[in-house]
Amino acid sequence: PRVLVLAGGLSHEREVSLKSGRRVLDALRTAGVEAELHDADVSLLPLLAADPPDAVVIALHGATGEDGSLRGVLDLCGVPYVGGDARAARLAWDKPSAKTVLREHGIPTPDWVALPHERFSELGAVAVLERIVARLGTPLMVKPAQGGSGLGAAVVSDTESLPAAMVGCFAYDQTALVERYVPGADVAVTILDLGDGPRALPAVEIVPQGGVYDYAARYTAGLTTWHAPARLTEPVSERVAATALAAHQALGLRDLSRVDLIVDAEGAPHVLEVTVAPGMTETSLLPMAIHAASLELGDVFTALVGRAAA
Ligand code: DAL
Repeated sequence: PRVLVLAGGLSHEREVSLKSGRRVLDALRTAGVEAELHDADVSLLPLLAADPPDAVVIALHGATGEDGSLRGVLDLCGVPYVGGDARAARLAWDKPSAKTVLREHGIPTPDWVALPHERFSELGAVAVLERIVARLGTPLMVKPAQGGSGLGAAVVSDTESLPAAMVGCFAYDQTALVERYVPGADVAVTILDLGDGPRALPAVEIVPQGGVYDYAARYTAGLTTWHAPARLTEPVSERVAATALAAHQALGLRDLSRVDLIVDAEGAPHVLEVTVAPGMTETSLLPMAIHAASLELGDVFTALVGRAAA
């Protein structure tokens, strides 16, 4: 098939996306697939009309790429793509909505409050924060309701640090997700369906040297240690895999996704979020999981585009 890899765009994760796109492009070409990379902007529409590809790989992170809007455009143009459809992407992208659905399905996710910026200002920051702390306790995790790569996210260990974390978060989104912080091992599980049903690849464990898996720790070599597979006992590993698979299915996703979880001291998994366009850079988790499963990135994407184009 002729494949178009879409990357770039104008989100906060533009640079990450370009790296992901180039990596998938190289992997596809090495596997013998005819593939091109397009930095997604308005020129995409005439391109799709004039020369529609057989399938698209969306390596576009952040808004447009992950929020369902690009997928809606591709649907309108009748161009197939790898990954969850517009509706599922929109649901997974909005963390409070996704957490509500996960909870409805009995899938554990830390307690949370979604706080729109207007409420934060109108009611008085102190009163709002006191109510949140009374409900969720500390420490807390603050992150944009919509966003990725750890941008605008912070762990808050006391009430005094909360206002600064909220302001940092509102720089990235109009709504903040304030979550109970669950201590434990940070793991990511890639869910992959090559035509025989979705399955969980080996979990990847994340150990940031500075304790926080922020943007720098994600994309700077040497700042994070990864264990693939994660250092979990067999029963815990099975429980984590089953929970990740259940999260992928509850959100109605297809082909591939990445489920990020915390495994607490008792070995219980808590789903933090599910990503529809996981990073594919040199330091990203999905390629590590594919490698740990003894698969090749190029073969996986060749199979996925083949299925999408069929
Ligand atoms: N948002 C980044 C790209 C990730 O989840 O890998």
